[in-house]
Amino acid sequence: MSPSPPGSRPRLPQPIPAGPPRPAGVTLPHPRSRSAAIKQLIYRSQPFGFDQSMLDGILMAARRNNRANGITGALICRQDMYIQLVEGPDDAIDALYQRILADDRHTDVKLEMSLAIEERMFPRWAMLDDTNPSMTFSKEEVEDGAIDRASPEALRALFRRIADRANAASTAT
Ligand SMILES: Cc1cc2nc3c(=O)[nH]c(=O)nc-3n(C[C@H](O)[C@H](O)[C@H](O)COP(=O)(O)O)c2cc1C
Repeated sequence: MSPSPPGSRPRLPQPIPAGPPRPAGVTLPHPRSRSAAIKQLIYRSQPFGFDQSMLDGILMAARRNNRANGITGALICRQDMYIQLVEGPDDAIDALYQRILADDRHTDVKLEMSLAIEERMFPRWAMLDDTNPSMTFSKEEVEDGAIDRASPEALRALFRRIADRANAASTAT
């Protein structure tokens, strides 16, 4: 093949420029994978009027809605605190958190962590309830502000232990 004369268009199809160069090692998500992004969120709050029937009502609605919305997670539920981890599609988690913020069965709702994740921690649980105080903070620690001082990593590690124990015991709810 003879070389193109200077100034003329090349005869072979040329690659389409891929846009500005990206730093090495940075990969962008596939456009279609964005809609499937999974968000994991942890918040804590102070129960308001805590009793068993109220807790049953929260868990029943949580499990019904979460199944419908592709949400999984766990709720540490005690007289003196809720800490909840929810994970699922971005939009569904955002909508749930707005409902949770507006719920008058608890107060002082405080976001502890929000993270894009690859793999769910509680894939088999629409909402696992955890009431075992030995796995979590003592009443005295809660009063002393231990949850406020805990890092997001420490809270995630706490939920990881709960997930491991639940997987070992295993009846999914
Ligand atoms: C501590 C706590 C945890 C909750 N967790 C969930 C949950 O995981 N999923 C959910 O749909 N609703 C949850 N709720 C209830 C919501 O705030 C809200 O009442 C409910 O989603 C409304 O659903 P409904 O319109 O079907 O009644 C929770 C409420 C509290 C107080």
